[in-house]
Amino acid sequence: MKAVIPAAGLGTRLLPATKAQPKEMLPVYDKPTIQYVIEEALKSGIDDIVVVTGRNKRSIEDHFDKSYELEYTLQKLGKDRVLKQVRKITDLADICYVRQRDLNGLGDAILSAERHIDGEAFAVLLGDSITKGPLCTKGLIDVYEKYGESTISIREVPNPCVDRYGIVGGSEVEENVYKISNLIEKPKIGQAPTNLAITGRYVLTSDIFDKIKETEPGFNDEVQLTDAISKLNDVYGIKYMGEVFNIENRLGWLKSSINMAMEDDEFKQELLNYMKTYI
Ligand code: G1P
Repeated sequence: MKAVIPAAGLGTRLLPATKAQPKEMLPVYDKPTIQYVIEEALKSGIDDIVVVTGRNKRSIEDHFDKSYELEYTLQKLGKDRVLKQVRKITDLADICYVRQRDLNGLGDAILSAERHIDGEAFAVLLGDSITKGPLCTKGLIDVYEKYGESTISIREVPNPCVDRYGIVGGSEVEENVYKISNLIEKPKIGQAPTNLAITGRYVLTSDIFDKIKETEPGFNDEVQLTDAISKLNDVYGIKYMGEVFNIENRLGWLKSSINMAMEDDEFKQELLNYMKTYI
């Protein structure tokens, strides 16, 4: 299975940090966000990846490319551990890049990857969200293989937050697996069918491309992937039980960095001591 990683958005909620650098390249602790996303795809068994980029996103390509000068210098300085890390990034996956010419919504971004998909089901991992815990994309692939239909990851969010997400309604067909009956992108509070939000991980059958083409601009006057998915006949949702970090806002980004840093024994205690100075 291939994966499409949309990473073309402007990151306006993170300005000025994202003025000249893609939000997907913001470091979460010591790695750019998109590296976590690509690592999730790899661990889920996918190594053929299409990243949808836009203008000002060239540093994403540079990050996953070879850096001869850097490798040469690290080698000369005998910094073997860092050198190994730098080389590993280049060897991660087979990545190709397509550009979304006009920023016309997530649905349109996915459509830019159509000619790389060959009529097969494919995974979508949003480039600005990190999952932590069970492998989210692997879970979707397993349910897709069982039912043969598009499958999306969902999780419960607090009711006052439903207007930030795509929200789904449906009925549970097995533990934590739902047959989805309706999807609505960023409903107004009070108009959401449930508090089950789309988390930014999907496995989609290739007929989604025709559905995107039939989809009129919706929320924010953009072609929404959620609206195109709601045109598919059968869609399943799996409740993701791990953590999801949205890097597209300041708090989400800060929390994710602290969370990842706390996993590093070298800094954990010092970071804790520092945070305590604010109490
Ligand atoms: C996108 C999707 C939305 C989903 C969200 C998850 O929205 O359109 O359905 O719930 O990602 O992060 P965005 O956050 O890009 O506005």
